[in-house]
Amino acid sequence: MFELESMKLLLQAAQRLEQGFAGLPPFSPEQPDEQGLREVLFAAADRLRDNFPYFHPLYAGQMLKPPHPVARLAYMLSLWINPNNHALDGGRASSRMEKEAVAELAAMFGWSEFLGHLCGGGTMANLEALWVAGQERPGKTILASEQAHYTHNRISAVLRISYESVACDARGRMDMAALKARLERGGVGAVVATLGATGTGAVDPLPEILELCGRHGARVHVDAAYGGYFTLADNLGAAALRAFARIGEADSIVIDPHKHGLQPYGCGCVLFRDPAAGRHYKHDSPYTYFSSTELHLGEISLECSRPGASAVALWATQKLLPLVRGGELARGLAKGRSAALALFEKLRGDARFVTAFEPELDVLVFAPAAETAEEVSALSRRIFECAARRNLHVALAKLPGRFFSTAAAAVRDAGELTCLRLTLMKPEHEEWLGKIWEILDAATEDAGAGKR
Ligand SMILES: Cc1ncc(COP(=O)(O)O)c(C=O)c1O
Repeated sequence: MFELESMKLLLQAAQRLEQGFAGLPPFSPEQPDEQGLREVLFAAADRLRDNFPYFHPLYAGQMLKPPHPVARLAYMLSLWINPNNHALDGGRASSRMEKEAVAELAAMFGWSEFLGHLCGGGTMANLEALWVAGQERPGKTILASEQAHYTHNRISAVLRISYESVACDARGRMDMAALKARLERGGVGAVVATLGATGTGAVDPLPEILELCGRHGARVHVDAAYGGYFTLADNLGAAALRAFARIGEADSIVIDPHKHGLQPYGCGCVLFRDPAAGRHYKHDSPYTYFSSTELHLGEISLECSRPGASAVALWATQKLLPLVRGGELARGLAKGRSAALALFEKLRGDARFVTAFEPELDVLVFAPAAETAEEVSALSRRIFECAARRNLHVALAKLPGRFFSTAAAAVRDAGELTCLRLTLMKPEHEEWLGKIWEILDAATEDAGAGKR
């Protein structure tokens, strides 16, 4: 089931890399004892069995997408050098590869002049964007929707920037009347538009946010950590399409290659439309930046040491799967959205379930039909467990009752209920829908939910 065939190439690539250093005096690194190594590695393999099968299409729970084989191999290959992309002193080739890969990400949003770099993930990338927003609009408040990732609230507290959440409409998108009213009260420095909410996949109405923020002098930051790559998909609904078409007008964008970009964890990206944002990072280093007058990535990043391996993996992936509409990566994203739509239709036609809004990307939320929010929540948890026993791994989410327009009145009126959430982010999910439905159907029966 694991893709292991490509491992053979790793040895050849490592030997090729080694030839680049053939001019050095020979040196024999200390060899680990093979028996000890085997024992420890096998013990690690045994320990790692204690995981959900993230790589398998029957895993549709959290946002976990297996890295592409090229990303895995390029990452491992670069570990023989273990470059540090803090400075060119620590990773000359991989820093250049990072600049190229990041330029390709920026180009996906229509930017050729920009400032950007990779970082540890969506949290770190958003932290840098909100930090710059705070520097640009000191003393002002940051707004994000109540469905925005919780990281924004926490990051704002770390940065000591005041933070408020804006209500959502019944489709889980930021409510424009609420945003307008809050902006009119004044004191807002930046608005975070989430293009692909973690819980529901909802896409905030960016064109209206841009217009309102323009009128009130607030910056717009787009958190597209999860949804950003859908810019390339050809099957978005009209509202999402309008939002993604305007993403390049934001002041800053976050996208996570370690979500939909087929990368191992530890790969987020922050982009600023105005390269002058670099002035906020300005600092001197007594230890680094000696080897070149070219830009060292540490000069425009809050993190110091960073894995060059992440840049090498991303660079290699984008060479094999360029970020273009109609390309393999784009087709894979479109399949996820098709799978979410198809499952949504099936659930909508089945009286045992209640659905929320049509999925905008590849996250789907739904709940078992019942009279009260407590019953819905208890049944959701039972279905979650019964499905796991049958090898289908889904997730649970707490969402407002009003998102479920077809639910009983008492459920719709509930402040919050626990529902089921599927993240159909693997291209294979589309082909596996029949099996996923079969298990969901059986798990629903096992859980004793809404007998037909
Ligand atoms: C929209 C959004 N923003 C931010 C984050 C946080 O990113 P990370 O987990 O990479 O730190 C996530 C994670 O799921 C996300 O979906």
